[in-house]
Amino acid sequence: MRSKISIIGAGSVGATCAQRIAEKGYADVVLVDIIPGLPQGKALDMMESAPVLGFDSHIVGTNGYEETVGSDVVIVTSGLARKPGMTRDELLLANAKIITEVTRNAVKYSPDGIILVVTNPVDTMTYLVLNASSFPPSRVFGLSGVLDSARLSSFIAAELGVSVADVFTCVIGEHGKNMMIIPRLCTVGSIPITRLLQPEAIDRLVARTVNGGAEIVDLLKTGSAFYAPSAAVAQMAEAVVLDKKQVLPCAVYLQREYGIKDTVISVPVKLGKAGVEEIIELELTAGEKKQLTGSAEAVRELIKTVKPDSKGDGVTR
Ligand code: LAC
Repeated sequence: MRSKISIIGAGSVGATCAQRIAEKGYADVVLVDIIPGLPQGKALDMMESAPVLGFDSHIVGTNGYEETVGSDVVIVTSGLARKPGMTRDELLLANAKIITEVTRNAVKYSPDGIILVVTNPVDTMTYLVLNASSFPPSRVFGLSGVLDSARLSSFIAAELGVSVADVFTCVIGEHGKNMMIIPRLCTVGSIPITRLLQPEAIDRLVARTVNGGAEIVDLLKTGSAFYAPSAAVAQMAEAVVLDKKQVLPCAVYLQREYGIKDTVISVPVKLGKAGVEEIIELELTAGEKKQLTGSAEAVRELIKTVKPDSKGDGVTR
């Protein structure tokens, strides 16, 4: 039996996600948006591509949540996207409102589902969704490390003229300027990039990765990235519905792992049918631990902006 995945927000990320997931054939897709006709039109167009591409997934577009009932995964992409010159954090207040409303509806119709958050600033939004949903932290997580690692991997592959298949990268922390890249854990065919690239080159690729989303916003001018984000989200959703037990860096709620409490940042986790089935603790040096703690503190500051009552002593549930 096919799984059911609902995608809230039929903008570029949401619609491209729907397309990628439907084309794989393992899940039926419900695409939801408040704009009349938009999700219906995009879903119909995708459905009409099925005979050519040979997939049997059903896709429907709707302006309400009734059709999302019983979803295995609800992907939340709704919210404002960045414009040139804006940081992800500047979206905070507007998107916090949207996300809380979306969460209520997602939970109402899919009380046993898993929520995958894409809306920015994603670490803070994931915290808010967790709070508003009352779900356990294993069933709420966000897109960040998979996308940031994919960006870095693509840059390393291009720099060294190797296949992306041979590159492994490790990006954790905030999905923002405090993201943390550990070059000694980034490898090409098992060889650390610290042995393959000069420090200046590594610094340049790291800086480009941290600025990866903004580079695309500046080029597009009217929107933000969606091809790589939707590919990353589809990989995460697939790991869940196919119970792959895949280790991927995701934005998750930490309860004392890495010595960090009551915030959301990206760390490697094992994703399967139950959602975040395990949080993997990398062995970090003292300097790396400090950097990760700084990244977590930056997210906590943002959380306080939208939830001034949050004292850092646990999500209400
Ligand atoms: C980006 C958005 C998804 O990094 O945050 O492109």
